[in-house]
Amino acid sequence: METSLINRVVEEVRSLPIRCALAAISGGVDSTTAAVLVRRAIGDRLRAVFIDTGFMRLGEPANVKELLSDILPIEVINAGDRFYREMLGLGDAEEKRIRFREVFYTVLSEIVRNYGCDWLVQGTIAPDWIETRGGIKTQHNVLEQIGIDAASKYGFKLLEPLRELYKDQVRELARQLGVPDAIINRQPFPGPGLSIRAVGELTLEKLDVVRRATKIIEERLEGMGLSQWFAAVWEYEVSPNGDLSRVISGLGRLSAYLFRVRATGVKGDSRAYGNVVLVSGELGNWDSVYELYRYLGTIREVTHVVYELISRGVGRYFVSIRAVSTEDFMTADVARLPRELLMDIAQEIMNNDDRVAAVGYDVTPKPPATIEYE
Ligand code: XMP
Repeated sequence: METSLINRVVEEVRSLPIRCALAAISGGVDSTTAAVLVRRAIGDRLRAVFIDTGFMRLGEPANVKELLSDILPIEVINAGDRFYREMLGLGDAEEKRIRFREVFYTVLSEIVRNYGCDWLVQGTIAPDWIETRGGIKTQHNVLEQIGIDAASKYGFKLLEPLRELYKDQVRELARQLGVPDAIINRQPFPGPGLSIRAVGELTLEKLDVVRRATKIIEERLEGMGLSQWFAAVWEYEVSPNGDLSRVISGLGRLSAYLFRVRATGVKGDSRAYGNVVLVSGELGNWDSVYELYRYLGTIREVTHVVYELISRGVGRYFVSIRAVSTEDFMTADVARLPRELLMDIAQEIMNNDDRVAAVGYDVTPKPPATIEYE
């Protein structure tokens, strides 16, 4: 199937009147595979760039360039200041996503113009536009499927060779195309990057906290066969909630709190922007941590339930550890990690950053949560 798919796409792309196409590479399997596929068809008329948005993980742009050096030459464009200028201070999830998309495409349209290109290659896959169109979230790279005319707004036509495929099919295709395993097996990283993992008001300090915590979690959970594992950070501002505490009283000596921040989830076919519950205290047994969401996640407006692993009296931020397994990213299970491992990671995060007041583990599957928080 894949070989014929490759041939079909290559033929299709060759038949288009392309002067030059620009591919924005994120280092993930989707955008890389799309670019490699188009390069097969049009050779050096494909120009690949990596936009450093300032919301990248530590060392990300250099890593990606290095990983792809044998297969796709890429140029790193530093646009961090531009994104910071437009986005710092924003607090609402969709506002961040929409602003990110605007800045992202404005930067891209300038590069397209500078290079004299007329097409933009995107690694959009089926769940991206299905979820965006369904109103679950504004995926940063979805335009035409929601009625934005790229040609008149940004001056390029869109080439999306993977738009009907799901992640596992893209991985298969990538293997056929000789994309390195390190890219194929890389966990997905959302386009808006750490801007949507610095939950709530976006500040440079919060970005710095999430970047450092991300590094620890990524290293500690690497190679465990998970689909996605990362950190999110927000202010440690909670208020106790007696009703929620009563609902889980059978599971241990527990208290429930509501964070001030809100986070995204899925309810039915649409997106919810609801409350995040913090549970702290002693569980009767560790496995019941994975039951908490059954009690709390069914309550209206609760999208994420986080169990507190460690806290201390000082510090401004809460770090949430997120680790999930999934086939298609449309639904996801929480990774059943041992308590000792999580405690150890939490301790390392606290030791490494005295701005962190507490660390918890997000125990909510998708649905009712989303994998990300915004
Ligand atoms: P959610 O949070 O909706 O995420 O459960 C599902 C998958 O999509 C990734 N994701 C994104 N990827 N641009 C991307 O390229 C985005 O705007 C975006 N938002 C979420 C997320 O990391 C997960 O793998």
